[in-house]
Amino acid sequence: MNILVINGPNINMLGIREPDIYGKQDFAALEAFIRQAAAECGAQVELFQSNHEGAIVDKIQWAYRKMDGIVINPAAYTHTSVAILDALKAVGLPAVEVHLSDVNAREEFRHISYAGMACEKSYIGMGFEGYRAAIQYLTGKQR
Ligand code: DQA
Repeated sequence: MNILVINGPNINMLGIREPDIYGKQDFAALEAFIRQAAAECGAQVELFQSNHEGAIVDKIQWAYRKMDGIVINPAAYTHTSVAILDALKAVGLPAVEVHLSDVNAREEFRHISYAGMACEKSYIGMGFEGYRAAIQYLTGKQR
């Protein structure tokens, strides 16, 4: 199974940005964690991070007919981007949303997730483990 894993804006700043919220491990550690989790599940992963909404839309469109599923942490675009929601709906791939922090326990503007409306599952507030859960969910699905 081929899974596209997308991380949105400022996820590349892990380890530096608000460590009390996002932890002390850096982005390279997250990517290594995701690769390990995918290997455990026998999945191939394509990793993509961008700070640009349109680049994320382009990458979701790229996945059409190439990937079998999408794991996405749209970061701040979660709460604003109808374009990312529409792209996920357009390609129609099984998608799973991940957030490192518990967005529902934070500011009210983080409580809405547009991307989540196109996702089958959401793993929220589990740190890196949320990515493992998402990959396990996608690889465990009957297809
Ligand atoms: C985040 C939560 C978002 O609200 C925030 O803008 C992020 C990261 C998370 O993984 O907890 O950048 O998606």
